[in-house]
Amino acid sequence: MKRAILALAAIPLLPLAVTGCSDLTDDSVSGQDNFALGDAIPGTNATNFAAAKANFGLTETQQDGLGPIFNERSCSACHSNGAIGGAGQNIERRYGTLTNGVFNGLPATGGSLRQLFGIGGFNPSPGVNCNSGTDANPAPGATIFAGRMTTPTFGLGLVELIPDGTIQGIAAAQPAAIRGIANTHQINLTSGIFTRGQTRVARFGWKAVHASLADFAADAYLNEMGITTTSCAAGQRVGDFATENRANRAPTNAVINGCPDDLVPGTDDDAAEELNNCAGGVTEVQDDVANFAFFMRNLAPAPRGIDNSNGRGLTEFNREGCNGCHVTTTFTVTANGRSQSFTPFSDFLVHDMGTLGDGIGNDGDSVAVTRRMRTAPLWGIRFRNGLLHDARTSDKATAIRAHDGQGAAARNAFNGATAAQQNDLMLFLSSL
Ligand code: HEC
Ligand code: HEC
Repeated sequence: MKRAILALAAIPLLPLAVTGCSDLTDDSVSGQDNFALGDAIPGTNATNFAAAKANFGLTETQQDGLGPIFNERSCSACHSNGAIGGAGQNIERRYGTLTNGVFNGLPATGGSLRQLFGIGGFNPSPGVNCNSGTDANPAPGATIFAGRMTTPTFGLGLVELIPDGTIQGIAAAQPAAIRGIANTHQINLTSGIFTRGQTRVARFGWKAVHASLADFAADAYLNEMGITTTSCAAGQRVGDFATENRANRAPTNAVINGCPDDLVPGTDDDAAEELNNCAGGVTEVQDDVANFAFFMRNLAPAPRGIDNSNGRGLTEFNREGCNGCHVTTTFTVTANGRSQSFTPFSDFLVHDMGTLGDGIGNDGDSVAVTRRMRTAPLWGIRFRNGLLHDARTSDKATAIRAHDGQGAAARNAFNGATAAQQNDLMLFLSSL
């Protein structure tokens, strides 16, 4: 949706970098904070933040490029618990199967992600009659089904700035029995601290699939809302997010139920075309994607609450080995030119979680790889309803008891703890 964000297009890139001056070191965003859920981090221009947030909350229509198939009409339709940007009740549906022992996301049927809604009939040009098709469940051939709850985006701009080496260093220091793996992703969009083509440590999503919030935003815009975008990177058109999805059961890659793949209703958001195909060495991220990234990059972590266990719960958390993965490290990065500290309670690594793994992967992944899940950051958990990747419970003890694989020892330690110790742990978790 290009109209709403013209005011923002002229914003210079704010200095979000891990290096840079840290003249103001008293802006800690950890501890007992005095800002509210949904606020911006210190140093954020309030007008720009409000405009970017409005874009994140904007309901889009077919004329804006929504569809042909989609899951929701705005980012905030899913990300809204507590404040815009938060977690949500929406649970994405994924499926796949095993073919010769390796994961197969059944892309020829529209997998692995389902889009639950379609716009129905549409006419991309006079006389061309198309139909979005409808979601078919179960998709033909699917044997593995998983839900993925909407995660919160509070504080993720700071997470984005954690140096790769810091995350890799945590993995190297972990005991072999619980050692996680730093997933990597090749950067799509030149944005913020990232340059297209770089290989960076992925840290976002239940399976740690993206390193950059701009990449995640473009991915979500396409796969959740059906809105394609192009951007420019050093004079080249970036078409990674420019191809529409097909409803399940559409017969071949080339057609959406009779219509060519990228014939879509409305005008899609095409920075490359607006900019005359990126000529002249242009680097520019499509406006909406840039705004979503700006909003999330400046969204503060959830404030901490009171720990009614008087510190005993943290001791118990460490004793049971929860901190092996949900590390208690306070990270410090430079954002908006200021040093900012935060404690997300995650190593941002993926771990083999045994039966808790969701069984979904990329095509060709071994079964062991499909069991890997990112250590869920526990900050802001008191603002959450559903827990675990499929929101199977809202009860923290039940979530802990579901830990398996590399999490089994900690689960057993929790099960073996006294009622008083377990209670202290719950009080501590309820303060995060
Ligand atoms: C239909 C619901 C839905 C919509 C619409 C949606 N999201 Fe999400 N979002 C999710 C779910 C579900 C996840 C977790 C996905 C996963 O990891 O598999 C998620 C995860 C994320 C994450 C990763 C957070 C983390 O924990 O690391 C980011 C960033 C994000 N979304 C941004 C966006 C943006 C930007 C938009 C709008 C363009 C958007 N989302 C639209 C459901 C949605
Ligand atoms: C081996 C690494 C590991 C250890 C050790 C571990 N966890 Fe986790 N934890 C994870 C992963 C990975 C997830 C996400 C699992 C999923 O939903 O698929 C998770 C999820 C959670 C959740 C749900 C969070 C959410 O966002 O839904 C809670 C609560 C939690 N862990 C608490 C604990 C506690 C308390 C302990 C100690 C008893 C512990 N964990 C030990 C890796 C670990």
